[in-house]
Parts: sequence; C-alpha cells; structure tokens
Amino acid sequence: MEQLKKGVTIISSGSATATQVLDNHDLSKIVDTSDEWIKTRTGIRKRHIVTNQSLSDLASLASQKAIDSARLTAEDIDMIILATSTPDDLFGSASQIQGSIGAVKAVAFDLTAACSGFVFALITASQFIRNGVYENILVVGADCLSRWVDWSDRTTCVLFGDGAGAVVCQANNQVDRLLGFEMCSNGKLNNALNLAYQGEMKDIGHHKMVNQGGFGKITMNGREVYRFAVNKVPEVIEKALFRADLTTSQIDWLILHQANQRIIEAVAERLNIPSWKVIANLSEYGNTSAASIPLALDEAVSQGKIRNGDTIVTSGFGAGLTWGAAIFQWGVGSRE
Ligand code: ACO
Repeated sequence: MEQLKKGVTIISSGSATATQVLDNHDLSKIVDTSDEWIKTRTGIRKRHIVTNQSLSDLASLASQKAIDSARLTAEDIDMIILATSTPDDLFGSASQIQGSIGAVKAVAFDLTAACSGFVFALITASQFIRNGVYENILVVGADCLSRWVDWSDRTTCVLFGDGAGAVVCQANNQVDRLLGFEMCSNGKLNNALNLAYQGEMKDIGHHKMVNQGGFGKITMNGREVYRFAVNKVPEVIEKALFRADLTTSQIDWLILHQANQRIIEAVAERLNIPSWKVIANLSEYGNTSAASIPLALDEAVSQGKIRNGDTIVTSGFGAGLTWGAAIFQWGVGSRE
C-alpha cells in the first residue's frame, strides 16, 4: 500500500556552546595576528572552544533543548541525523546522542558534508517525513573544529569555533513548510579545503602491508573558498527560491553559514536582501561549521526575531566542495 505523503514542519530549535572563550586579543598572543585584521577581514571577535566537553555532550545538550521546546520527549523521536565532520568516534556519534538523551525508538546516524552538513541533513530528514515513514526527526549540526585546527597557522586558526545546534522536524497533514531546496557538490575543487587522512605504510609481517595513521590539520585556500562562496551561494539560493516560487522580496530572514561577515554581506547584496533581514552571530562564535546555521537560527528564535510563519532562507557551503540552500517557514501556525 502506498504511504501517505506528509508535509514537513520545523517546530523547535536548541543550541549549546562551550564556556571557554578565545577572543582576538588572546589569539594575537598565540600567532602573529591582530584584533583589527581579524575583525575587518572576517567580522569575528570571539570563538567558544571546548575543553573537557565532547562533541556528543554539546550535541546532546542542544538536542535536549530542541526536544523540550517542541514539548516532546526523547521517546517521541524516530530518527536522529547528526551533521558533523568532527565526531568523537569515526564510526559516528549520532548513536551517542541517542543514548545520552534516551531517544530509545530513534535510529541515529552521522552525515558528513562539512559546513553544508546542516542544510543537507535537514533536506535528508524531510525526505523521510514526506514519504510518511517518520513523524519526528531531530536534525543536529555540531562541530568541534578546534580539535583539528593548526593553532600555529594564523590563516586558519582565527576562523573556527565549536558549537552545536538542533531542530525538530515534524510530519504534518495540513501544511508543508519546506518550500524549496537545492544541493550541489564539486569534487574538482576538493583541494581548496581539507582535513585529510595521513597514513604511513606499516609492515604487519609475512610481507603484508597496511596503511595506518590519523587525520592531519585543516588546510584551506581561503581566497578560492571566498570566491566560490560569493559566486555559488547566491546562485543556489536563487534556484531554491525558484523551486519555492518565491522572490527574494518575499523572504523574512537570511541565515547563511557563518564563515565570514564579508561573504554574508556580499551574498545579501547580490540578492538585494537588506541587512536588517540578515541574521549573523559569527562575531561571537566564529565559523562553527555544521553548527553555525542552527546556532544562529536558535539565537534568533530565542530573541523573538523569528516568529511563526516567517520565511527563512538558509544556505550552507564549505569543504567538498559542497553547497546548498533550504527555504522554509518557521513553526506550524501562521504569522501572528
Ligand atoms: N592575521 C594577520 N595577517 C593574516 C592573517 C591573520 N590571521 N591571515 C592571513 N594574513 C595575511 C596573509 O599572510 C596575507 O599576507 P601577504 O599579503 O603578505 O601574503 C594577507 O594577510 C592577506 O591574506 P588573504 O588570504 O588574501 O586574506 P583575505 O582577505 O582573503 O582573508 C580569509 C582571508 C578571511 C580566510 C578569507 O579568504 C575567507 O574568509 N575565505 C573563506 C573561508 C571560508 O569561508 N571557509 C568556509 C568553509 S569552512 C568549512 O567548510 C569547514
């Protein structure tokens, strides 16, 4: 029997950040940089860096807040998708979240698409809801890139911070609030941004070899990623708007991956979106990769900026290279 197609709603959010703060002045004592350089080139003033908290700790905290604010319990969750590039366990960390919050019914898995991860996970979750398979899906974006930053490389270490954000997506028989989306990849530009495996050949005896090692540090061609973001993000948003049958003038909020204030402003300008519709919090948190969009979303919801029925454009971009956009209306009810 064909299953009923359902609508997707995004009904709540939650977030968590580390308590240790590293500001630009702190960094200028660690590498050859200055508050002025970092502020003018990136818009970042601080970042929150984990010490003894794990990625799953932060992600579980954000998840529990999102579930509470949806007025659900962890037992109501059918699926958990964790977007991360920095799991506590290479086999995946979503199950650790499932265990720690007690989401006993939920299937849990990781999804890796760097800074596009949250948008890709949201779109993935929506397919399971639209097909009528699951009712409540927790989508989490969490990253602790501080683990993999080269703290002696001033060109990258000033950019990244740690954090986690989560939303609950719910099936709905009346409305479908995911209005449009688009996802892209270009592996030809993979070398622009990497956190690559680095192994060595080892002889395990009997003339048999294995390659063992660990992961290196983040490497990035900043100018190339900048150019890519400023060109491709407006394009992917326009495609998603076309699918949603909307124009930029009809959107209430723009939440881009929080990589660089100059990228955010350039994209908004290209799309003719006024600055008061642009949500940005990277001055406080830096680039938190898969966490940056849900972290900014949750902050704006908590501040009462984003209200029921508001139309939000989100776009993630980053390593892969990957990029994507999702347009949705917040909540279930109509605008107050
Ligand atoms: N402090 C002081 N000087 C610096 C620093 C620093 N922290 N970093 C670089 N510089 C110097 C460089 O050495 C260079 O000096 P030179 O001219 O003598 O060679 C000069 O500043 C200019 O460097 P650029 O790289 O040209 O600086 P730019 O204006 O491009 O800004 C930045 C660099 C901020 C990295 C920018 O290119 C950017 O934001 N790129 C996009 C990054 C991004 O969006 N990543 C997102 C994806 S993240 C993910 O997927 C995990």
